[in-house]
Amino acid sequence: MQKWCKVLGITLGVVVVLGVVAGSITWAVLASQGPPPPEIKDLDWWEHTIIYQIYPRSFKDDNGDGIGDLKGITSKLEHFVETGVGAIWMSPIFVSPMVDFGYDISDFYDIQPEYGTMADFEELVKKAHELGIKVLLDFVPNHASTESVYFTRSEARTPGYENYFVWADPRTDPNNASNRLVPSNWISQFGGSVWEWSDTRQQYYLHQFAKEQADFNFRETGVKIEMLNIMRFWMEKGADGYRLDAIPHLFETAPDANGMYPDEPLSGNMFLNPDQPGYTTQIHVRDLIDLYDVVYAWRDLSDQFKEETGSDTKIMLAEAYANITMTMLYYGNERDRQGAHFPFNFDFITSLSAGSSARDFAYMINRWLTYMPYGKVANWVFGNHDQKRMPSRFRDNMVDGLNALNLLLPGVAVTYQGEEIGMKDGYISWEDTKDVSACNQGNPDNYLEYSRDPARTPYHWDSSTSAGFSTNTSTWLPIAQDYREINLEAQKEAPRSHYKVYKALSYLRRSETTLSHGHHHIQALTQNVLVVVRYLVTYDTIVLLFNVGTVPDTADLTRVEMITGPLTVYESSIHSVRVNGNTIQLGEVTLQPGEALILRAPPT
Ligand code: GLC
Ligand code: CA
Repeated sequence: MQKWCKVLGITLGVVVVLGVVAGSITWAVLASQGPPPPEIKDLDWWEHTIIYQIYPRSFKDDNGDGIGDLKGITSKLEHFVETGVGAIWMSPIFVSPMVDFGYDISDFYDIQPEYGTMADFEELVKKAHELGIKVLLDFVPNHASTESVYFTRSEARTPGYENYFVWADPRTDPNNASNRLVPSNWISQFGGSVWEWSDTRQQYYLHQFAKEQADFNFRETGVKIEMLNIMRFWMEKGADGYRLDAIPHLFETAPDANGMYPDEPLSGNMFLNPDQPGYTTQIHVRDLIDLYDVVYAWRDLSDQFKEETGSDTKIMLAEAYANITMTMLYYGNERDRQGAHFPFNFDFITSLSAGSSARDFAYMINRWLTYMPYGKVANWVFGNHDQKRMPSRFRDNMVDGLNALNLLLPGVAVTYQGEEIGMKDGYISWEDTKDVSACNQGNPDNYLEYSRDPARTPYHWDSSTSAGFSTNTSTWLPIAQDYREINLEAQKEAPRSHYKVYKALSYLRRSETTLSHGHHHIQALTQNVLVVVRYLVTYDTIVLLFNVGTVPDTADLTRVEMITGPLTVYESSIHSVRVNGNTIQLGEVTLQPGEALILRAPPT
């Protein structure tokens, strides 16, 4: 008996061993027939990075004058390393009378003294590069300050500069020949006519923004060449690329043979007065097809520069609020021309808000991915210095879910300073209002409709004087009142915080091949619950569940075909009762308003 048992044991052992061998052979055979492991293409430095927008005036003040500066930025570069940011882009730092806070440049080749010196800029770039952070500048080609030499020379008709700007004679008034009329009914983005009279030149010049920001004439070869020179200058100084400002406005319809400009049709919007943008339908002042060749030429310069110098790719990011067709054309023409590396995707700003359903979210996200030309890189933007801050447009309890979307969707994540800690709009009184858009168009009762100041209040580093932004108690814009509750230091110390969620997701983003290379599936499971699934054969699946609504809602996960088993909570929004490591079964799951769960599962 004993003997027999032993024999049986040996026999069983042999059978098991044989079985295992056979099993692995079968597995090997099957595996060799199945899909090969994905070829993981090397990504260029920018294709899956996080780009962080700095508004230099409001990021960090080093010299205590209440205004942010370059040394301040340099002193905080470690923040980006810690947060997992790959590149910063800075709103303009060039010499400017500051009518539009740097978007009215008077010297494109030098640094605004309030912000520092050329040496400070060089130091910033050097340190950033040592830390592995790329530095992008803001390129403002549409217009120059009326204090720039380009403008003063053009106004004085200095040879070579006469046509640098868009000059036009008055229209004659049929009823009164001595009356001077503007050349057309076009309206500036900041209100009022685009035409401003120059006594010196005895002509009107065109400005699509403030009257101190004269529009360059992009039909003039000299202007196009000068723009290339400026771009090259800063690339040589080490800039890693540009955000391209206000690009849809580069061209306006040209005058006819008699020098006459056509009027725009009236929009019929009865709530607006004739001085307000939107009173006319802008068919002559934006999205003109001619502008794309200019953008494509800038891309050629960037490619050429890389080839000549062996530098890393210099990226071009187009700021363009335009319809989807005109937006996608910035990527290139899909035949023979490359364009910007990407146009900013403003859908989360212009098309989604606190009232949007999960279906609206799924629809808008999929829309970008559907229209984007093959092989291009997507991007997601949740705020900037021109828009209300992200939690102020949506809801406070959506901060983590929105940051999770930004960080988990395919492509580049763009973060505006403060989004990583959920900063909200500050309150700015009419007396403290600085923004030209509000000063031009607003009055004490309605200025907040136009003001961009609330999104530009200084960054909240900690709860000390002026939120750690400045040692000065007086800052160029007041500090938002909520800085003691919402600041970086407090969020680093708290057990759970927006910053900790952001950082965890930014880490996940860097470490998971699924997120850099995987497929995506974006779906509304119910009216309120949005699901994003990122998956890739042999890699873990990453799932975001997000209740974008205001009521609890239950979703059935069995409806998502890529999810086949229980999921583990990797991270959750700060008010969620689910904590890291919890299991979510495949089945029904109820999410509270604003709740976001970031889950992982083994490959399906
Ligand atoms: C862009 C900038 C904005 C500026 C405008 C004119 O839209 O983001 O701040 O006022 O261009 O340069
Ligand atoms: Ca300063």
